[in-house]
Amino acid sequence: MLRSGHIISLLSVIPALATADSETPLPLVIWHGLGDSYQAEGLQEVAQLAEEVNPGTYVHIIHLDESDGGDRQATFFGNVTEQVAQVCDQLASEPILSTAPAINALGFSQGGQFLRAYIEQCNSPPVHNLVTMGSQHNGIFKFQSCASSGDWVCRGAEALLRYGTWSDFVQSRLVPAQYFRDVEEYDSYLKQSNFLADINNEREEKNALYKKNLVSLNRFGMFMFAEDTTAVPKESAWFAEVNQTSGEVTTLRERPIYKEDWLGLRTLDEQGKLDFETIPGQHMQLTEKLLTEVFAEYFSSAVGGDDLARFLLTQSS
Ligand SMILES: *[C@@H]1O[C@H](CO)[C@@H](O)[C@H](O)[C@H]1NC(C)=O
Ligand SMILES: *[C@@H]1O[C@H](CO)[C@@H](O)[C@H](O)[C@H]1NC(C)=O
Repeated sequence: MLRSGHIISLLSVIPALATADSETPLPLVIWHGLGDSYQAEGLQEVAQLAEEVNPGTYVHIIHLDESDGGDRQATFFGNVTEQVAQVCDQLASEPILSTAPAINALGFSQGGQFLRAYIEQCNSPPVHNLVTMGSQHNGIFKFQSCASSGDWVCRGAEALLRYGTWSDFVQSRLVPAQYFRDVEEYDSYLKQSNFLADINNEREEKNALYKKNLVSLNRFGMFMFAEDTTAVPKESAWFAEVNQTSGEVTTLRERPIYKEDWLGLRTLDEQGKLDFETIPGQHMQLTEKLLTEVFAEYFSSAVGGDDLARFLLTQSS
């Protein structure tokens, strides 16, 4: 899991769609994945594409440090609870985002479950449509080894694991450990998980705000990479649970988190607002063609006109 969210560069180039809409689309925030950084070329290309597909889109790439290196480091190290709180402050104080009636959100890999946490815990400015790609909504049960032995930040993160996944020491410092989830160690997970067990409302006491905020989404598109061997298990992108001994997959709709609607996923699904989508290929293998389609589908709604009126009504009810 230690290099999962890295966008190298977009694979193919096609002319972008131009939309005829003259109104300004909602701003878009992007939270990148592990090992990536906000100034990376691949992300800048994604931001540019979002602007081309829906002209006038204001794009904000979330970052946890002003320096590119510091931002990359924060994908490996830190207390995710504190990182999400920092992002809540960042979005609420950013002049354009904070005055927009709503924003759209795109999360790559771990950035997907972190954006979901932003929605559940803060959601100000509120998210209209959320798209997550190759995210680990139901956690990982395997840490991916570092891509290169010369990546000292990644190696340092890996080294932390010798203190034990469930130790407070690791849970407050190693980012991927905070969404590690193994059903064979479920008690330790429930007790010690600093991030995932909380935002998935898995503990006895449920946080009503998490559900209230998540059901306010207009649409939640969950994209899974069909051949993903980096984020293990890949089905986590759809909130499915996998038994790593038997390989048996329990889909979201068969799980208590859904049946008892701990997060509002069932509500969203019954309203036709929860999309289970597949992208061919390996983790984060994105093409311009695919992103163009996704941006046109999810991020074209404009500020102003009937859309805005409808949106404000849903938010205030
Ligand atoms: C992570 O940060 C939060 C907020 O400061 C704190 O309550 C929590 O105890 C920290 N987690 C660990 C494992 O130290
Ligand atoms: C996982 O599958 C194995 C083998 O079928 C089974 O023995 C075990 O109880 C399963 N674990 C869970 C948590 O269901």
